[in-house]
Amino acid sequence: MPHTFEARIASYTERVNARLDAALPRASTHPARLHEAMRYGVFNGGKRVRPLLVYATGECLGVDGEVLDAPAVAIELIHAFSLIHDDLPAMDDDDLRRGKPTVHIEFDEATAILAADALQPLAFSVLAGLEGAPAGSSIKLVRLVADACGSIGMTGGQSIDLAAEGKTLGREQLEHMYALKTGALIHASIVSACLLHEGLAAEKATVLDRFARSIGIAFQIKDDILDVEGETHIIGKTAGADELHHKSTYPALFGVGESRRRCDELLQRALDELQIFGDSAAPLEWLARFIVARGK
Ligand code: IPE
Ligand code: IPE
Ligand code: MG
Ligand code: MG
Ligand code: MG
Repeated sequence: MPHTFEARIASYTERVNARLDAALPRASTHPARLHEAMRYGVFNGGKRVRPLLVYATGECLGVDGEVLDAPAVAIELIHAFSLIHDDLPAMDDDDLRRGKPTVHIEFDEATAILAADALQPLAFSVLAGLEGAPAGSSIKLVRLVADACGSIGMTGGQSIDLAAEGKTLGREQLEHMYALKTGALIHASIVSACLLHEGLAAEKATVLDRFARSIGIAFQIKDDILDVEGETHIIGKTAGADELHHKSTYPALFGVGESRRRCDELLQRALDELQIFGDSAAPLEWLARFIVARGK
């Protein structure tokens, strides 16, 4: 195995892409337009940060790679569904994603809604098919991912996000929204690997839980900074879209400088948590730094 986590990213990405490919029906399977749209929404070039967090947490805890594939795939499918809906005219009304037309532009609105609808249960089907893990893992993962995806997780956060357009939120309210709309799936990525480690010490689970919460919020603040400072051809999304849609974001409410400061503070807090793991946390440390430093 290559020494640094960075050098293993390409193989992890290839691996999760192959598992996603195997989980999705062929594009030619009837109804073909729906399956084409589902594949388009998944294979249009994402960073795969959530699967990477699953594998990095697995490395940190010494969990076997094979059993990590199911949560890695399932959470990426939920993420892809969330992006397709997020871009719809009724939500953020974006026509560019990962440098390509969004699913409702490339296909049509109804197909985009249905493609996302179908990606969501596929994720749970993948979790239900988990083999070779400790008894009861599959059902625990279904519960974890369902909660992270639902009204007390990502979907709830999206609802708060839409209701907050044009409003002035306080820091706590804004971070609560971020914790749900973005943090919940990032948190589930890390906790999924914890669930697959039989007899994980409570202290380690608590530390990883706190690490996950900090980087989840930092991830969304960085996304907001990129919307303000990034260029469309690099970030692959229309730069400045948040301001145009009067989104309640960290930069809009507190300025870019304060956004950056808070991001760094959350990163530092996250890194401090990892100390009890020593060198085995190097992959998670690398990803935490990447989340705050990334250019897209
Ligand atoms: C974008 O997530 C949506 C947010 C939750 C901020 P990513 O930045 O992980 O998007 P992809 O998957 O790499 O395109
Ligand atoms: C995160 O927020 C959205 C999801 C939970 C899918 P954004 O609306 O800022 O994400 P982008 O910028 O469109 O990727
Ligand atoms: Mg949004
Ligand atoms: Mg959006
Ligand atoms: Mg954004």
